[in-house]
Amino acid sequence: MNVSQNIQKDQTRDLERAYARALEDYLSSGREDALQSAYEIGRTALADGLGVLEMAAMHHAALAQVLQRISRPASLKQDLDRAQEFFGESLSPYEMAHRGFRDAISALHRLNETLEQEIQRIAHAVHDEAGQLLVAARLAMSGVARDLSPSLQGRLQEVVTILDQVEKQLRRLSHELRPTILDDLGLVPALQFLTEGISRRAELSIRLHSSLEGRYAPNVETVLYRIIQEALTNVTKHARAKNVEIQLTNFAKNLHCLVHDDGVGFDAPSVLSCKERRGLGLVGIRERLIAVGGTLQIDSVVGRGTELLVKIPVEK
Ligand SMILES: Nc1ncnc2c1ncn2[C@@H]1O[C@H](COP(=O)(O)OP(=O)(O)OP(=O)(O)O)[C@@H](O)[C@H]1O
Ligand SMILES: [Mg+2]
Repeated sequence: MNVSQNIQKDQTRDLERAYARALEDYLSSGREDALQSAYEIGRTALADGLGVLEMAAMHHAALAQVLQRISRPASLKQDLDRAQEFFGESLSPYEMAHRGFRDAISALHRLNETLEQEIQRIAHAVHDEAGQLLVAARLAMSGVARDLSPSLQGRLQEVVTILDQVEKQLRRLSHELRPTILDDLGLVPALQFLTEGISRRAELSIRLHSSLEGRYAPNVETVLYRIIQEALTNVTKHARAKNVEIQLTNFAKNLHCLVHDDGVGFDAPSVLSCKERRGLGLVGIRERLIAVGGTLQIDSVVGRGTELLVKIPVEK
């Protein structure tokens, strides 16, 4: 057992003793300040990382001890009622923390919705406004072309061809950003569209295997689309991989998504714990997952590629 585990054990023992003393005090006196101690002990226990089950165990052990010591069968019913009240009070910091957690999750939900709206706005701006500017530029150039010699007209045509490619690329990117296919046809067709585009641009082989059937809740489909989008962006930015494999399965009421690349890999625990080296992508994935009750597991070995496993509970 290392030093910090020893310290933790000592703290827990101190807490158990304090709990038993305060419980005995409350059973004997029924005083408000003894009940207040239960709340304080609960707060300390929560800060020390004790779970509700450990609190329950602590309460049972203390109650058995105290009842034996004070031994007054005549007021057993009253003692048990007070003990229950005391235990409830010691758990109230947990209840508050739980409420805070629920509030944080619903704030995350709202944040994700706002983010999606913002992405949609940018996608439309890229598609419509940049697209219209390019059309205007082409029109202006065809006006200019009429006044030019045939050889200059040829060179201008080269510029027009490049502008056509820019327009196509912008259209594609705006669709990938917020694919209408995701709403209309669902996750797998949207991912096919996304992976084809990235595969072509990054010269990467991406294989998508899916055994999913039917549709999932829109927020689940959007979260998975965004996660795979970020995972693939990471592969193109950091992995120097040649192949990526994506697998989607529905397993025991959980949607499983595995993204594996054969790139350089990275030391995930040290990258994720180091604030200076941490980007927003993986943190964003975790936050999106919290909002739908999902989890992320990263398995990466330097020199041997990276695997992300996402699990999201779903009711079809
Ligand atoms: N597939 C991967 N292969 C190799 N390294 C990776 C891979 N995915 C992530 N990493 C490493 O993990 C780090 C954190 O990734 P994360 O997506 O959180 O941030 P980022 O990509 O650096 O920045 P951002 O996503 O904010 O643009 C990356 O900087 C990179 O070092
Ligand atoms: Mg990233």
